[in-house]
Amino acid sequence: MDSAARANELREKLREASYRYYVLDAPTLSDAEYDRLFRELEELEKAHPELSTSDSPTQRVGAAPSEKFAKVTHRKQMMSLANAMASEEFDEFAERVHRLLGNEPVRYVVEPKLDGLAVTLTYEDGRFVQGATRGDGLIGEDVTQNLRTIKMVPLQLKGTPPKLFEVRGEVFINKRDFVRMNEEREKAGEPTFVNPRNSAAGALRQLDPRITAQRPLSIYFYEVGEAAPFSSHWEKLAKLREYGLRTNPENELCESLDAVRDKYRRMLAKRHELAYEIDGSVVKIDSEDQRRRLGAVSRTPRWAIAWKFPAEEEATTVENIFVSVGRTGALTPVAELKPVYVGGVTVGRATLHNEDELRRKDVRVGDRVFLRRAGDVIPEIVRVIVEDRPPEGRKPFEMPRECPVCGAPVLREPDEAVTRCTNLSCPAQLVGRLRHFASRLAMDITGLGEETCMRLVQTGLVKTPADLYSLTREQWLSLERMGEKSVDNLLAALEASKKTSLRRFIYALGIRMVGEATALALARRFGSVQALLDASLDDIQAVRDVGPVVGNQIWSFVQNSQNQTAIQRLLDAGIAPEPEAAPAASGLFAGKTVVLTGTLSGYTRDQAKAEIERRGGRVAGTVSRKTDLVVVGEDAGTKMKKAQELGVRVVDEKGFTDLLK
Ligand code: IVH
Repeated sequence: MDSAARANELREKLREASYRYYVLDAPTLSDAEYDRLFRELEELEKAHPELSTSDSPTQRVGAAPSEKFAKVTHRKQMMSLANAMASEEFDEFAERVHRLLGNEPVRYVVEPKLDGLAVTLTYEDGRFVQGATRGDGLIGEDVTQNLRTIKMVPLQLKGTPPKLFEVRGEVFINKRDFVRMNEEREKAGEPTFVNPRNSAAGALRQLDPRITAQRPLSIYFYEVGEAAPFSSHWEKLAKLREYGLRTNPENELCESLDAVRDKYRRMLAKRHELAYEIDGSVVKIDSEDQRRRLGAVSRTPRWAIAWKFPAEEEATTVENIFVSVGRTGALTPVAELKPVYVGGVTVGRATLHNEDELRRKDVRVGDRVFLRRAGDVIPEIVRVIVEDRPPEGRKPFEMPRECPVCGAPVLREPDEAVTRCTNLSCPAQLVGRLRHFASRLAMDITGLGEETCMRLVQTGLVKTPADLYSLTREQWLSLERMGEKSVDNLLAALEASKKTSLRRFIYALGIRMVGEATALALARRFGSVQALLDASLDDIQAVRDVGPVVGNQIWSFVQNSQNQTAIQRLLDAGIAPEPEAAPAASGLFAGKTVVLTGTLSGYTRDQAKAEIERRGGRVAGTVSRKTDLVVVGEDAGTKMKKAQELGVRVVDEKGFTDLLK
């Protein structure tokens, strides 16, 4: 075979490999094979420059940097979409469509609304000749050279596209690529990007295509420009794929409005599992004929709408900052916010964690801030809108030197981030300890809420959890807002709580750094309260998951004579912790660590946990390299991402149920 024929063959093979990889998502060549063919082609083209073609896969990064972008007038306006911010607005859209079409049947296509940049690409005789940004919809910027660097953009189409073919799509960056890119930039001392959208925009609007080529840009195609010969959108999308243009596999044809609404809800639930950010669903009328009849109003078509998801980031105002004191005496600054609807709930408070966090974000009373709540994650202040601060500035918040509850001095150990109240009998700590003691996963005393705990402490009736068990009916009744009925219920709940498990009891003690999983490990290892009290530091540190630091905490807790007395009083009150059943040595999850995240529809969290433990497994709260399996439910958040990053096995609810069978 002569060189020209071989070069053509190589180009064809590489093109086909990209198509299978990016469009069909079914690669046939390994990366190594691809690289080998690619290098062979490069060598050939170097030896015979006359064989090189502009649409060769080797010619993605060719052009030198330009001074500025040339303007491109779009052949057909690039419209934008009207938004529906709530389901009522979507209903109005649907009603209007059906009215205008005289109630004839309508099919829809629902697509993810990608949060990136709209671009339009022109192909002539199947060859990529020009690419442009949306600009103002009429005139955009020529970013041909930058688009060429994106491997998912075919330089040559497959099949027999129209002679002049214009296709539109969205350029974006995957969340993971975004994180990785920012990590690299941080290491290199370069400024990081705020979000994937901004980094994609920055990369696409680079004057030097060599820089664009280093950015992990992706693209999905979703519309065509010039009137093209399609009778339906669904058919159009299929054709795009035939031509080698990548379309989103999440796109769905919906035969009814109910199907559209169902798809919207599924996308909302799935949003955090997707590799890229989406901010809603785009609902489009399928029939091109119906689209023509519906037409457009100024810059937006009547045949499509962007049905947005509840925003995950909103601006609001910090009305106050107060400091709360927890059961370990930790002082936590908390921002009180002007209530704002974000991520599907109304939020009025956000923790500022500790002094360092507060300094880093420099949140001050009166500031406008961006608040973020994504999935199951607790709301967080992302940053202060410093631009909105008045010129005379605002006073930085100072952590108090005294406990805001008891007035005792506070202390921050030099190597710790936490500031603590130094008074062990601080009422706030006591309230916190009682609440923890009574909580569902600890002694599970229903009816003993925050208010009641506060009154018990204020009136001096309770000084340690054991006091709860010695209060008389009259004493309970003497508390404000406690009626006969609630007292009866509480006394019953207290009585029931005496029959408990060792793990719950240990957890209920509220030893610092001892969560449920560690409590279980301790219960299994020691088998009784006494054995734990008698354990040596070495014994404790040898327990699975207990390192030197946690071990020290536990040991000094059980060595403390006040704690010993408090524990003895609990046992004297009649609490009889049952030893833990030994883990099933042979079960499905024997010796395995499983993490649950998101909401499961068929199990409560406790049920899922029981299923795992019954099979010898252990449920942990955070994903690490030691995790064996992550079970993801609806709305799973960062844990799933972490699992994917670490290569930990992930199953959905169905997979989990199958495993249990
Ligand atoms: S279709 C006239 N489909 O949303 C319709 N747009 O405000 C043209 N977008 O500028 C757009 N995902 O940047 C369409 N699946 C999708 C989309 C999508 C994101 C963006 C696009 C457009 C904006 C509309």
